[in-house]
Amino acid sequence: MKFVMDCLDVNEKGNLTIGGVDVETIANEYQTPAYIMDENSIRENCRIYNKAMKDYYNGNGLVLYASKALSCMHIYRIMKEEGMGVDVVSGGELFTALKAGFPADKIYFHGNNKKDDEIQMAIDNNVGRIVVDNIFELDKISELAQKANKTIDILFRIKPGIDAHTHDFVQTGQIDSKFGVALETGEAEEIIKYASGLKGVRVVGVHCHIGSQIFELAPFELAAEKMMNFIGDLKDKYGIEIDELNLGGGYGIKYTEHDTPINYDKYIQAVSKVVYEMSEKRNVKTPFMVMEPGRSIVASSGLTVYKVGAVKEIPNIRTYVSVDGGMGDNPRYIMYQSEYEAVLVKKPLAEKIKKVTIAGKCCESGDILIKDAMMPEINSGDLLAVLATGAYNYSMASNYNRIPRLPVIMVYNGETKLAVKRESYEDLIKNDL
Ligand code: LLP
Repeated sequence: MKFVMDCLDVNEKGNLTIGGVDVETIANEYQTPAYIMDENSIRENCRIYNKAMKDYYNGNGLVLYASKALSCMHIYRIMKEEGMGVDVVSGGELFTALKAGFPADKIYFHGNNKKDDEIQMAIDNNVGRIVVDNIFELDKISELAQKANKTIDILFRIKPGIDAHTHDFVQTGQIDSKFGVALETGEAEEIIKYASGLKGVRVVGVHCHIGSQIFELAPFELAAEKMMNFIGDLKDKYGIEIDELNLGGGYGIKYTEHDTPINYDKYIQAVSKVVYEMSEKRNVKTPFMVMEPGRSIVASSGLTVYKVGAVKEIPNIRTYVSVDGGMGDNPRYIMYQSEYEAVLVKKPLAEKIKKVTIAGKCCESGDILIKDAMMPEINSGDLLAVLATGAYNYSMASNYNRIPRLPVIMVYNGETKLAVKRESYEDLIKNDL
């Protein structure tokens, strides 16, 4: 593997290509900075998950794309074509999915504090499932569903008490988390018992998500085991039968050469085995299984291309290479000190001889993309690509310093097209009064 992304290569001109198309050509046509994604690679990832669900779990499940990783109309159209479901976490994501023509029955609506109007929107549009986080929204869903004369299929978000080894901010399975109801305190059992007698809702399943960017199978296997034991307990104690088990997402991807991801199909393979075994052990029916990968579907399919501006050498201290984007389009360094790799578009394989810090253009010292990156000689005017930015970049972008958001360009079978236009200055003031 030459790069951390499979869809990259080098052409006869010596330039970086994505999906076979020259990144310099794309940058010249669409200007910088810009996100560029390879659609075939996104589709390939969907197919890996869907095939695994078929091969290892007899197709008795659904793979959802967790659209918080990258939400725009085009991505929902891809997911529809690939036969995926989607997870949405806000009225905005739901609206975008519906506008893109995504089938409502394959939408799962998540979130730890859904607003009344968001719940109403989900009910009005007949979303497939609402994943209930807490008692407040449970009562609200029941009330609004009865008013609409509907019965809503619900899952409960459970904290299985697993502390997956990852960055603190993305650990959500443990008890000290704002998400969901806890297993070990009996809270989960109580709320399900209560819900099973409520009108307007039908308890169909349980859900957990133990964290993000995880490289091990064991935490997922453990989560599956705990959740299956919980399903067994609900049946034994209360006669409540659970049809659906949603095990969340969180599968790790390769951001740098130090990351060693597991093949994506291995996760479904591993948890399927546990779920089958536990169904037998606990004498419960084999549940419909749902998985929710987000990052691993899109991260390695995208890069961000920038143009280098100022190169400042502070003798004996540091060389700052400033690019024409930064924390507004990629806040992951300032938020999590995330690591990335970058290459020069016109000499992507040149020897890395110099340590530099790649910084953005925002008025903020922490506005850094890569600290202490080993790079070839860089000059002002060079095109630089930061790799594996397909997830949680566009979706977490901001207009800090009133910098317009970047376009998302899709490369598909040798052609490029815009999935999201670049924001204009006019867009920036369109809500200003
Ligand atoms: N399902 C649920 C309920 C989730 O909360 C998440 C992510 C996923 C699925 C998808 O997880 P993934 O496969 O993408 O790891 N902004 C952070 C990541 C936050 C993830 C939040 N939940 C980042 O940039 O790393």
